[in-house]
Amino acid sequence: MILALFGPPGSGKGTQAKALIKALGIPQLSTGDMLRESIKAGTSLGKKAKEYMDLGKLVPDEVMIGMIQSRIQSADCSKGFMLDGFPRTVAQASALDSMLQSAGLKLDSVLSFEVNRAELISRLAGRLVCSNCGASYHEQSKPPKKDGICDLCNGPVMKRPDDTPSVVENRLDTFLASTKPVADFYQAQGRLKLIQAEGSEGQVFERIMKAIGGAPKG
Ligand code: AP5
Repeated sequence: MILALFGPPGSGKGTQAKALIKALGIPQLSTGDMLRESIKAGTSLGKKAKEYMDLGKLVPDEVMIGMIQSRIQSADCSKGFMLDGFPRTVAQASALDSMLQSAGLKLDSVLSFEVNRAELISRLAGRLVCSNCGASYHEQSKPPKKDGICDLCNGPVMKRPDDTPSVVENRLDTFLASTKPVADFYQAQGRLKLIQAEGSEGQVFERIMKAIGGAPKG
């Protein structure tokens, strides 16, 4: 199964991806996580990407397309994969179609996470992330059991540098500006599935499983 999780910052893509890895047995390919890894490693790509990410802008298409093209050729993607945060522009969506087509593959569904703006701002204002395993928490609604320590791997839990109020506003505006053409692109192909992504994590997960007609693995 090949899925794309599409939705604004804070809509729960990463949170649901972690649950879907277990349920579907396919890896999560998060372009945001890949970029943050490059920044951590101090690569030239990471240095360039950081300039865009710190402003809440999109990293150029050619960088992102190259990154995904090489990642989907990895052995762990042979049974399918879940794209998280890619594609975000029509150029990325078209490039994805071409690369899948040339490998004899196709995108099964694009899950569009729908959440109102006030809720997104409140989720991002309180978000905490484990810098080791990427698990997401929230200061008020889902704090880690021990302050600053991940429940799952004991890694350090901290705020993301792009979750400051001004960068969040820019990220939301950037997403809104690029959303409609990408949604239209997939709507025209009959692949877009709207997911009501407000409510509990469990409720959203159930809606996704229903939308993709997938039975949990095992
Ligand atoms: P990226 O890392 O992809 O960030 P994003 O799309 O902005 O999404 P987020 O990670 O902020 O949110 P999420 O939807 O995963 O929410 P989460 O599950 O964490 O991208 C970062 C940057 O990289 C971009 O700005 C851009 O510069 C660049 N980039 C990446 N991909 C690119 C591309 N393809 N092209 C160009 N540039 C690219 O949840 C958020 C919070 O809500 C958490 O606290 C969580 O606990 C909580 N929460 C989750 N679900 C619920 C629920 N149901 N109810 C209540 N709270 C919930």
